[in-house]
This record gives sequence, structure tokens and C-alpha cells, in this order.
Amino acid sequence: MQKRQIKERVYWMGAVDWDSRLFDSLIPLPDGTSYNAYLVEGNEKTALLDTVDPPKAEELLAQLEGVPKLDFIIAHHAEQDHSGTIPRVLERFPEAKVVATPKAKGMLMDLLKIPEALLVTVEDGETLSLGDKTLRFLHTPWVHWPETMVTYLEEDHILFSCDFFGSHIATTDLFVTDQGRVYEAAKRYFAEIMMPFRSVIAKNLEKLAGYDIQMIAPSHGQIYDPPGWIMEAHRDWLADTPHNSVVFPFVSMHGSTRKMVDYLVAALVGHGVRVDLFNLAVTDIGKLAMALVDAATIVVGTPTVLAGPHPLAAYAAFLANALRPKARFLTIVGSYGWGGKTVETLAGMIPNLKVEVLNPVLCKGAPTATDFEALDRLAATIAQKHRDNGFK
Ligand code: FEO
Repeated sequence: MQKRQIKERVYWMGAVDWDSRLFDSLIPLPDGTSYNAYLVEGNEKTALLDTVDPPKAEELLAQLEGVPKLDFIIAHHAEQDHSGTIPRVLERFPEAKVVATPKAKGMLMDLLKIPEALLVTVEDGETLSLGDKTLRFLHTPWVHWPETMVTYLEEDHILFSCDFFGSHIATTDLFVTDQGRVYEAAKRYFAEIMMPFRSVIAKNLEKLAGYDIQMIAPSHGQIYDPPGWIMEAHRDWLADTPHNSVVFPFVSMHGSTRKMVDYLVAALVGHGVRVDLFNLAVTDIGKLAMALVDAATIVVGTPTVLAGPHPLAAYAAFLANALRPKARFLTIVGSYGWGGKTVETLAGMIPNLKVEVLNPVLCKGAPTATDFEALDRLAATIAQKHRDNGFK
């Protein structure tokens, strides 16, 4: 694809990756992704903001062919889907300097062996003049590595946000055209990548409130113009207050746990609580992560197998612990044959979660009337806890 103009002398460059289905060998990419770089031409100097994943280097280099000189390469983030082609760009423009945060400088030297002499560090709030265009660098640590920053192009009111506000979508649309589709992709992206750093990212979002941002150009997905709705969505995802919802990953081997799961879902819905249910044997882990963004309560449904939780339930607990969602309550339901340590094992796997563990409901074999009554009480307790805390 050719470079594409966004504003006067501001261009999208980069590559659309239609094929990838897994990011970092971990994160599902149902819709592919893009690696967006941007070119800003001032009347004196020119800057390239980020590059592309190394397998896509030739596409960026072809777009740069008509560019007579490059003074700066802005490296917002040292992860290689954005920084990995900097060495190739430096071969083409050996006079260019690489601009980064002090933390990123070390990482770029470690990861890409960029010579120190080519690196220029910028402090938080520092500006760089390109003549009639001014880049202001804002440090935004932990979005989602410790070295990350964003750039505000003052004259055009564009925020170049790198991973912040990103979404994994491969498309030829330069700007957001289908807000619902992008909301879903951005939420998935937030859940999988940003949620563990929620509190520090919330501070970064607050910091951006002082700027008149009229467009957000991220390094994955489409450009937001206007950007208000995606900033508002992030405000909700980053907020400490969860929604009146339960995320319910479960696995069942012979149907007993499934009976309990279905009963509890119906009881919760009867109490006005939203439930996002995921059968771990078939679920898309990205969808589970998205539901964790909002949920006030996590319920894990698992049979006892080999004296502990089913391995798929253990994986879900491990994932939830790593993603550090804002959930306040957690409980476990399931069936066992002759005993085990399911509750103790799962409870020991979630040290990062600041949750109150509600009384689990475990039944021997198939659930009986007594077990269903216990599930009724559990549903009522969850609903009451949500009401008491004002979750909506
Ligand atoms: Fe898109 Fe953290 O790299």
C-alpha cells in the first residue's frame, strides 16, 4: 500500500497484516492487525513516528522511497512490532536520529543494537520543532512496557499514541468507519495487553486530558477522528468500579458441573445480574479477557479431577490472576467424585486479585435439591453484594 495523507504533510505509512492470527505467540488475532507508522513533514525537518514489524519492513521502505530526507525516527515503544525496522530505516537514512525516552534508549540498544550515538532522549513534556510543526513528547509509562511515550502534534491536534488506544484489525479503512467493530477490537486489545497496568494507565489518560486532542493515530488499527468515544471507553475500562456482571468460565466433564452452572446462571439473571458464560473447552480466551474488564464477580465452574481443579479451569484462574481485573468477588462451583483440594488450589492461584472469596458450592456427584438451594443462596449473595456496592 502507498503512504496515505491524514492531514497536510502528515501521512499514514506502515503495513496491514491480514494473515497473523496470534500476537506474541499468545494473543488471538481473529481479524489480523496493522503496524502503523506516520510521517510528519515540517517545513524544516521530517520525522517518522515508529516503524513496522520486521517481516513487513519492505513495505515501509518502499513507502519511504520518495522521502528525500529523514531527520528523526520517533520510537514510542521498544517492542519490535514498532521498533524492529528502525535499523533498516537507519541504513536508508544514516543521518537520522532516534528519539526515545531514557528507558527506551537502553532497551533499543539491548534489543536492536542501535548505536548509542544515534539515540536522543527526551524528557516528559519536551518538544521537538520540525519548523512549522511541533512534536510534544508525553511519557506514558506502562502502556504497556515501562518505556512507552506518545507524541502530540500541536499544530494539527493529533495524538500519535502507539499501542495506547490500539486495536488489532486488518482493514483498508484509514479511519474508523464501524465504531461497534472497533470498540470490540479495542476492548479485546485493552483486556489482553493493558488491563494488568490499569492504575498507571489511568494516570496517563488523565494526563492527556490537558490537551486538545482532535484525532488519535494509534500504531495498531484505524485512526480515531473524532476520538472522544474511544477515550470515554477507556475511562470506563480503567475505572475502579466494575459493572453488575459476572464472568463465569467453566468446564464440565460428565455434565454435573454443567447442571450447576446452568442453574446458577439462571438464578443470577433472575436477580438482575448480567452473566458472561464461557465453556473453557471451546472458548476464545480473548472474549473471556474482555468480559473480565467489566465483571464485579468471577465464578469458576470446575469438576475436581486428579484431586484438584480441571487444568482448563486452572488456566482460566492463571489468566485472570495475570490480567489483574477489577473484580471484587470470586467463588467456585462444581462437582467432585470422592474429594480433593479444588478450592484451596484455585484460591492459591490468584494472589494478584483483590477479591473477597464467597462460599463455594461443591457437590458430590450429580447436584441434588440441597445443592441447588445453595446455588440460589449464592446467586442472592452475589446480587446483594453488587447492589450494596452500587454496581450498575
Ligand atoms: Fe504493538 Fe507493545 O507493541
